Amino acid sequence: MTNTPLAARPIRELPDELISQIAAGEVVERPASVLRELLDNALDAGATHITVRLLAGGVRLIAVEDNGWGIAPEQLAIALKRHATSKISNLQDLESVSTMGFRGEALAAVASVSDLQLTSRTAHQSHAMVLQARTGEIHPAAREVGTTVEVQDLFFNTPARRKFLKTDATELAHCLDTVRRHALARPEVGFSIWHEGKNLSQWRAHQGPEATALRMADVLGDAFLTEAVPVHFNAGPMRVHGFAGTPAAARARGDQQYAYVNGRFVRDKVISHGVRSAYDDVLHGQRQAVYVLFIEIDPTRVDVNVHPTKIEVRFRDGREVHQAVRHAVESALALPRLGQTTPAASPAVNPPPAAAPTGHWPQARLDWSIGHKVAEPAALWGPAKQPARWAESADWPPHMSPASQPAMAAPPPPHELPNANDWPLGRALAQLHGIYILAENDSGLIVVDMHAAHERVVYERLKTQWDGQGIESQALLIPASFQASAQEVACAEANTEALQRLGLEISVLSPSSLAVRSVPNSLAQGDAVALARSVLEELQAHGASQVLDRSRNETLSTMACHAAVRANRHLTLEEMNALLRQMEATERADQCNHGRPTWRHISVAELDALFMRGR
Ligand SMILES: Nc1ncnc2c1ncn2[C@@H]1O[C@H](COP(=O)(O)OP(=O)(O)OP(=O)(O)O)[C@@H](O)[C@H]1O
Ligand SMILES: [Mg+2]
Repeated sequence: MTNTPLAARPIRELPDELISQIAAGEVVERPASVLRELLDNALDAGATHITVRLLAGGVRLIAVEDNGWGIAPEQLAIALKRHATSKISNLQDLESVSTMGFRGEALAAVASVSDLQLTSRTAHQSHAMVLQARTGEIHPAAREVGTTVEVQDLFFNTPARRKFLKTDATELAHCLDTVRRHALARPEVGFSIWHEGKNLSQWRAHQGPEATALRMADVLGDAFLTEAVPVHFNAGPMRVHGFAGTPAAARARGDQQYAYVNGRFVRDKVISHGVRSAYDDVLHGQRQAVYVLFIEIDPTRVDVNVHPTKIEVRFRDGREVHQAVRHAVESALALPRLGQTTPAASPAVNPPPAAAPTGHWPQARLDWSIGHKVAEPAALWGPAKQPARWAESADWPPHMSPASQPAMAAPPPPHELPNANDWPLGRALAQLHGIYILAENDSGLIVVDMHAAHERVVYERLKTQWDGQGIESQALLIPASFQASAQEVACAEANTEALQRLGLEISVLSPSSLAVRSVPNSLAQGDAVALARSVLEELQAHGASQVLDRSRNETLSTMACHAAVRANRHLTLEEMNALLRQMEATERADQCNHGRPTWRHISVAELDALFMRGR
């Protein structure tokens, strides 16, 4: 988006028929809404630095000072008129608007409920002029090129509305939120924010490919970036980019969800639902993802003129946007962080456009990677380097013998040990407390929650099979019979086809007993009866169509729970290595089905630090 061509345009009153096309309504609700309008105007005027000064949470004063191209003296009074704008002049402009403002109403609306003063100077003037909105008085003033709008005593003349304002602290919080939203979208603009004479934030302008990441660190803190993955996605005329938090970064409240359409902050159900569905598999219950997403779309495909405050938009094709957002976030989250030097370097998504962040990331981000040479997962997992026995074994663990296996079984002959350097998740060393696998790789120690990891591996495998040839099942050598209620028996009888699709064969032995004859082969080592019972329970509660269709992933996730290796089960080194290899080959293997991490990496440097070893 570029503002330059608009610099010279005069401010004109809009024709009546165009006025009637513009979403009518009140734009000034509280100090933050005034601030939003003034920031929009400063950005539309090409400002590269904006200073915000507030008194009493913005109730006593909101001043916005910019270094944009200014307003000519003879235009000052027109700028305050209703329906006067320099940004559009006809219906066609309205339909493809690329500026933040276009209604020509904001300054008029603010001036009607406050004491407004407009000071401005263009490059053609030797000094500034200042206009008092209440009196219409205009006189010379000192100022560099740019504009200052000062809004004092908001709602002084409408006491009823003033009563609705909250405490100064709350109003200030809303104002800061507003600045944050603008600042995130415009890293190339510097922002200074003052309250009661105290500097609250000072964000310098950033240029170049890392500008967005740097600004996010300014505004949301370094921690946000550490726990976020970059998003880059092109879908025809649409581009989705930004950052999405990992499931581990999710919050109880949705207070770090920033979505922009063509640079404008919006609240939009299509977008938020698209994001939400990308997290379906990895985010538990009510947890709220964090994200900053920018959607760039042909302006004629989105209507920004549906709400007076422009916070809502209407897409011409909502589905297209939903899918793009969903895919963008999904593929970002699915990047196997294992073995990549930077998350952005994945081949799984569209290559980032020239302007997108590449190469160097803020230091904290590097924690994501194991930080060694491997660049391309496909190369790692492709047939050439496939480890003969571990990764190819269809089932894991290969033979879940009863708990009699010693934790540290005799190690395989040395030539069969994977070289720690060859594998992102390294070589298994031991099992800890029957819960964790300890493995060693190039750069340190890997700790794996074996139950969570195995569950994820099985779940992803079930999904892949479902989407492909269907879930592969395998007959049990000895059918597992169990006592069943009349409802369970009836349900099994009525749903043979649905059960079959889920890889299960359950036959009726008597009015009160059932037998499991086949189970999905990835679940063959699990408890067949518990699996059958839980699937029957789902079928009774929700019906086959929902279980197979809308709730398919939940069903498969529940099934995977029953396959997963339980805590306190002793594994051989071979079994542990098999799991590590399968994790490497599984998308999203680094979170369990409930969004918890499945593994962690502790670098040698961190271990050295623990032991104060100078290296
Ligand atoms: N900070 C500024 N720098 C330069 N020109 C400005 C500035 N603020 C306002 N203007 C001029 O005043 C006009 C009126 O501003 P106003 O905010 O009322 O309407 P708008 O931005 O055109 O539309 P909207 O009501 O949607 O915000 C703008 O069109 C612009 O030409
Ligand atoms: Mg405006």
